[in-house]
Amino acid sequence: MRQQWSFSTAGDILFGRNTVRRLGQIVRQLGGQRVLVITDQQLIAAALLDRVRESLEEANVELEAFEGGEPEPRVEAARACIEAARAARPEVIVGLGGGSNIDLAKTAATVLRWGGDPADYFGENKVPGPILPLVAVSTTAGTGSAVSPVAVLTDVERNLKVGISSNYLRPRVALYDPLLTVSCPPKVTAESGIDALTHAIEAYTCIDYHALPVEPDQPVAYSGKFPLADALAERAIQLIGANLRKAFYQGRSLAAREAMHLGALLAGMAFSNAGAAAVHALQYPIGTLTHTSHGLGNGLLLPYVMQHNLPACPQAFADIARWLGEEVEGLSMWEAAQRSVEAVQRLKADIGIPRRLRDIGIAEEQLPAIAQAAFGIERLIRNNPRPLSVEALEGILRRAL
Ligand SMILES: [Fe+2]
Repeated sequence: MRQQWSFSTAGDILFGRNTVRRLGQIVRQLGGQRVLVITDQQLIAAALLDRVRESLEEANVELEAFEGGEPEPRVEAARACIEAARAARPEVIVGLGGGSNIDLAKTAATVLRWGGDPADYFGENKVPGPILPLVAVSTTAGTGSAVSPVAVLTDVERNLKVGISSNYLRPRVALYDPLLTVSCPPKVTAESGIDALTHAIEAYTCIDYHALPVEPDQPVAYSGKFPLADALAERAIQLIGANLRKAFYQGRSLAAREAMHLGALLAGMAFSNAGAAAVHALQYPIGTLTHTSHGLGNGLLLPYVMQHNLPACPQAFADIARWLGEEVEGLSMWEAAQRSVEAVQRLKADIGIPRRLRDIGIAEEQLPAIAQAAFGIERLIRNNPRPLSVEALEGILRRAL
């Protein structure tokens, strides 16, 4: 039985309006005179690179930009980014964007420091030591990549997600400026926001750390549920439950954007230690098959997985119902737990996340292969509160179809 837990996150976290103005000074403190900013065309069009440039210029930091970031980035995009980084020879790398750009920045900072190719580091704990200093500037309220140890890429030839997982990938500084999220379009707001909610719910309902079926001294990326992650997840669920609709419908509402950014940060801190579970395991093969975003797939699957897991930890789901604002006074624990599933279904519908797998083009005959692929993602499957088999995963998929 495991008897200890530990907690890791970004080296420093800066939160609040206009924190982006401090970026130049932060890069200087990390010893940077030349910096590579990794971003994409949408963010350049939204003038976010300009905000970063102003701050860097003020601190006399030389800036090169890699502008080829893309959603669900391919390994080829990472290689192009590394090529740009080698030419720019930066001392510090800045990832500006949602999880996709930050994951590219993590990969570039790894390969620039240790050489080789991204594929040399795929898997757990293959990075030998600290990477190039990395600052993550988060422009969506979602993935938690700015505080997480993981970079996820898409292998197009093999049609699967690959990734680097190592505590060395956690950014030195994570910068959360809610003003940078105001221009985020509604669809991205919905999909990244429900991803953050999934992080908090999976962290709060995953297997208890004592019960994680792994030898006590074996290092793990995901440790199972523990008290510090619980506290973070609780606040994250409250914030996201109360603000995601408003951020979606009234994107200019700074209060809603700020609350969502905080919720996504806390959810990221929770799940990047306690871990995710079956929702994320099932999303990876579905995302590669359907070319839908990570957040969309997670949001679609979330209530179905909650329903499956409910018998394993009804009290945790009853807590979630209360935190999502459900009236649970006078209800039994089981009735209250069921309300959490209904609350997520309503939220998902209100922000335009598809209801069923068939809505995103999945057909019944694909389900066995999806279940098989998901079952292979051991760190997520063993973290689920209710033990899973390929048949059980297929059952969840059938109900979601
Ligand atoms: Fe996620």
